[in-house]
Amino acid sequence: MKFKKNIEVKTIFNKISYRYDFLNSLLSFGLHKLWKKKLVDLLKPQQGEDWADLCCGTGDLAFLICKRVGPNGSITGIDSAKEILNIAKKKAERVKNKFINWESKDILEIDEYARNFDGVCMSYGLRNLESVEKGIKKVFSLLNDKGRAGFLDFHHSRKNSLSNIFQTIYLRLVVVPISRVFNLSREYAYIEESINNFPRGNELILIAKEVGFERIEYRTIFCGQMGILILGK
Ligand SMILES: C[S@@+](CC[C@H](N)C(=O)[O-])C[C@H]1O[C@@H](n2cnc3c(N)ncnc32)[C@H](O)[C@@H]1O
Repeated sequence: MKFKKNIEVKTIFNKISYRYDFLNSLLSFGLHKLWKKKLVDLLKPQQGEDWADLCCGTGDLAFLICKRVGPNGSITGIDSAKEILNIAKKKAERVKNKFINWESKDILEIDEYARNFDGVCMSYGLRNLESVEKGIKKVFSLLNDKGRAGFLDFHHSRKNSLSNIFQTIYLRLVVVPISRVFNLSREYAYIEESINNFPRGNELILIAKEVGFERIEYRTIFCGQMGILILGK
């Protein structure tokens, strides 16, 4: 079952990779850039620190963090879908950025003993993992003793709340029809299903506590549409 799900997710992201950035900007009216910047602002990466952008996709967070950690730090972008990672690499080549390390890997299979990051970030990745618990556990194991982590994703709001109704209408009447134009409606219809299977804010907090994080904050942004989870050891 696990194998099937990982393969499916990889297939989805390889297939949409060539339209990923374009559709992200179109479907969020460019707002995803602001939400990602907000996450990075909250995490405050410092000069000289070592960071990882997990499930990096085309690398938006990696590029943002790269500017903050400077030449003495490092940033590694990791994703399991080769096609989408290739887009990230091409973007880096275009802007002559040789600083970011790109790794093609399932993040749940990273060897934690080889890593000791000051910070880990993930946008729209946690919801796509075969297990959210395993994802948060993995992040914990990749951080050093004072490490911190931040996750940005759709907020799974209470059923029939205003933000839940808005989200459902927006996904069904805007996202899916627009992606249909690019023959990607099946792939984008998957977002609603994945949000429904994603833990709510209070459940994410409980998971993080059980994993061992000391500092845990969850906040919603954009009228309850998106959620940001900040964790610290
Ligand atoms: C919705 S995209 C987000 C990409 C990027 N972080 C962003 O915010 O634009 C989710 C990404 O997670 C990656 N992904 C899903 N499961 C993964 C796993 N187990 N290991 C590594 N990457 C994974 C997918 O390949 C995809 O690129």
